[in-house]
Amino acid sequence: MSTKKQPAWLEDAVFYEIYPQSFNDTNADGIGDIPGITEKLDYIRELGCTAIWINPCFDSPFGDAGYDVSDYYKVAPRYGTNEDLRRLFEEAHRRGMHILLDLVPGHTSVEHPWFRESLRAEKNAYTDRYIWTDSIWEEPAGYGSLRGISDRDGSCVVNFFSHQPALNYGFYKPERPWQQSMDSEGALATREEMKNVMRFWLSMGCDGFRVDMAGSLVKNDDNAKGTILLWQDIRRFLDEEFPDAAMVAEWGEPDKSLQGGFHMDFLLHFGPSHYNDLFRCENPYFAGNGDASEFVAKYIESYEKSERKGLICIPSGNHDMDRLARAVHGDKRKIAFAFLLSMPGAPFIYYGDEIGMRYVEGLTSVEGGYSRTGSRSPMQWDKSVNAGFSTAPKTMLYTKQDESADRPDAASQMSDENSLRSEIKRLIAVRKTHRALQSRGEIEFVYVGKSAYPLSYVRTCDNEKILVILNPSDSEAAFPCDLSLGECIYRFGGRISANAGMVTIPANSACYVEIK
Ligand code: NOJ
Repeated sequence: MSTKKQPAWLEDAVFYEIYPQSFNDTNADGIGDIPGITEKLDYIRELGCTAIWINPCFDSPFGDAGYDVSDYYKVAPRYGTNEDLRRLFEEAHRRGMHILLDLVPGHTSVEHPWFRESLRAEKNAYTDRYIWTDSIWEEPAGYGSLRGISDRDGSCVVNFFSHQPALNYGFYKPERPWQQSMDSEGALATREEMKNVMRFWLSMGCDGFRVDMAGSLVKNDDNAKGTILLWQDIRRFLDEEFPDAAMVAEWGEPDKSLQGGFHMDFLLHFGPSHYNDLFRCENPYFAGNGDASEFVAKYIESYEKSERKGLICIPSGNHDMDRLARAVHGDKRKIAFAFLLSMPGAPFIYYGDEIGMRYVEGLTSVEGGYSRTGSRSPMQWDKSVNAGFSTAPKTMLYTKQDESADRPDAASQMSDENSLRSEIKRLIAVRKTHRALQSRGEIEFVYVGKSAYPLSYVRTCDNEKILVILNPSDSEAAFPCDLSLGECIYRFGGRISANAGMVTIPANSACYVEIK
C-alpha cells in the first residue's frame, strides 16, 4: 500500500472542528467569523488541541452551509477576507498549531460562474466542467440531476442536494456517449483546477485539507479504482510541491483512501461502520446499556484491510450528526472521551462537545441543515448575553441557542476541576505523553462482549503497552485478563482490581494501565 509518510505533527495531533458560522462572532452580525477563530486559538490550545479543521469558509450562497462553493479562491465576506485567513494561519503556526481547510472537490453551487457558463448552449471552456447528458430527455441513471434550467440540451448530474451540480472527473467505465473518460480533456481540466485551488491555499499557509466526499469523484467506479488513481495523481503533485500538506479524507474506507495517498480517513456515521452504536442510537454503548461488539468487528475488519495502520479518525461528533450529549449523559461523556482519546488515528473534537453542548431541539432548518441544525448552534462561551458568542440582537443569531438555564459554558467549565472540559484536558495531556495512545500505536481488543461491559483494548508502540478499560455502565464489570498490570496512568471513577485472572472495574469508570 502506497501510504505517504505523514507530516510529523499528525502523529500526536488532536483536532478541533470549527463550524465557522457558530464559533465566535466579532463583528456583531450574528454569524461567526475568521477573526473570531483567531481570537479563540488560545482557548483551543489550552484544551490541548493542536490542529483545527474549519468547515468550508468560501464564498457561497449557503444552501448547504458552504458545501456549495461559488468561489474556491475567496473567503466568504461574512467570515472576513483572505487576509484574515492568512493571519489565522500565521497565528496558529505561532502557537505550534495547524489548520486544515475543507476542500469540496465534488460539486459546486449552481451560482458558481463555471456552472453559469456550462449552462450555455454554445460550447465554451466550462461546457465539460460538469457532467451533462447530451439530451434533456436522458436522465443520468443512478444519479440525481438538474433538468430544464438551461438552453443547453441535457441533464446535469448532481452530487448531494439537487442544487449541487457534480464536477466532471470522468467515468471509470464510460457506458454512454456523454460519459467522458477520466483522461478526457474536460475531466483533466477539472482536476488541474482543483490542484490550483489547493496550491492557492497551501501557498498562503494552510496545512492541508479535510476532503469532502473524497471517494465519490470518478463515476461508474464501483471499487473506487478510478478515484484512487485520481488521488494518487494529486498525491504526486503534493509530494512535489507541498510535501508537508496533511490530507484527511471523508471516505470511510481507509484501505482505499490510504492507497490514494491520504494520511488519514474518518470513521463515518453512515454506511457499515456501526459508529452510531456507540453514541447515537436508541441504546448507545456509552450511555451504559448498549452493544459495542458490531462496531468493534467492523473496526477490526477495516483496520486489517488498511494493514493495521491506525489512521481512522473517530470524531466526537460533527456538523452532520446529533450532538454527543443528546444520548450520552453526565459523567458517561467523560468515559466516551476516554475512548475517543485513546483510539488510533487523530481524534476530532467537534466545537462545544468539550463542554457537553446539547443538541438544540425543534429548530427550523438553517442553510440546508435540516435535522443537523440542532448540532450547529452558536458556541456557549460564558454566562453573558448570547452566551458570549455575539453582541448582535438574539434574533440575528445564526440559529437559536440552547436556552435552558443550566446550559453549559466554557468559562464555567474551565474553572471547575470536575467539569467535562477539565477531564478532556487531562485525557489529551495523557495522550500527548504516551506514544502508544497516539495515532499510530497499534490496537488489540482484549474484551468485547455482546451487549457486555467493560470494553477493553491494548495500545502498543515500541516498548510501551497500555491497557484501556472503559465501563460506562451502572454496574461493576469484570473480564478475564492475565496481563501483568503496572502503573495506572489515567483514572476516572473508581479503582480497578485484579484477582485470579479477572480484572474488575467499578461502575462508570475508565482507566489506562501500563502493562509490564
Ligand atoms: C459532507 C458534509 O460533511 C456535509 O455537511 C455536506 O452536506 C455534504 N458532504 C455535501 O457536501
